[in-house]
Amino acid sequence: MSRAEVRKAVIPAAGLGTRFLPATKASPKEMLPLVDKPLIQYAVEEAVASGIEDIIVITGRGKRAIEDHFDRSVELEENLKGNGKAQLLSQIRHISNLANFCYVRQSEALGLGHAVLCAQHLIGDEPFAVMLGDEIIDAPVPGLAQLIHTYKKRRGAVLGIQEVPHQEVNRYGIISPERVADGLYKVADLVEKPAPADAPSNLAVIGRYVLPPEIFPILRKTKPGKNGEIQLTDALKELAKSSPMFALEIQGNRYDAGDKLGFLIATVEFALKNPSLGADFADYLRNRTESSGEHRRTSRA
Ligand code: UTP
Repeated sequence: MSRAEVRKAVIPAAGLGTRFLPATKASPKEMLPLVDKPLIQYAVEEAVASGIEDIIVITGRGKRAIEDHFDRSVELEENLKGNGKAQLLSQIRHISNLANFCYVRQSEALGLGHAVLCAQHLIGDEPFAVMLGDEIIDAPVPGLAQLIHTYKKRRGAVLGIQEVPHQEVNRYGIISPERVADGLYKVADLVEKPAPADAPSNLAVIGRYVLPPEIFPILRKTKPGKNGEIQLTDALKELAKSSPMFALEIQGNRYDAGDKLGFLIATVEFALKNPSLGADFADYLRNRTESSGEHRRTSRA
């Protein structure tokens, strides 16, 4: 893999979002708002801040709101202009100017690996990023930029990883690591959602990847694995046998916002950091904690 520039990112967003039902029955999980922006906008902004120019979103039935969100909204813009809401107008226009967007339909949710394969004709023969839109990474250096930096130095696939509690390894793809430097590993093998007793480490793949185009012929041959889905992890396992593959510990806070608890935690953290809401929200939380402490004390008395 010698080509250096990573210009394109694939954001698979065609999953069924079963962990977030019933909210995701008719609305895309990726459009759930984290304070005032849909989840997928955070991923797009991270991509753009990492130097990505083209964003390929893999969509499916019931996901049209994603396309509308990144398109112009002429009527809304006219309304905001007419009402002198200049700041909101510029925020709204900014969304449609973020990047070049392309949409590919995955006609059936056959798995993450299959979703990535749907972008092959738009990627061609160059390295590209994959970003899961429901994983939020809050970091001073954007998560994807950290991976691209490593890719440029090492010229191999790079997976974003973080340590997870040992009992939670069965929720992630887990790597079998060979240490290269602080926070950087060579990936000897990968296993999808292992039982804690079988896990080769507690280093979990967290929804950010830089991959070479050589992954596509492998994905094409990958048979359905866990849950009958074509797993990206299975194709990565195969790729690691023939090309160098690295894993970088991403520096920053990561939230699994595709899960109800992870989403609530992310909401609290982003609300506390929000310049116009943070102070009032912190007051609310403080009063609430004090009054529930008070309530516990009086009900025990
Ligand atoms: P997840 O497993 O987190 O998402 O897949 P999901 O399938 O939508 O949600 P749950 O597990 O049922 O709650 C990771 C990402 O891959 C996409 C999802 O949209 C999500 O962003 N995906 C998954 C696809 O695009 N296509 C698929 O066939 C499967």
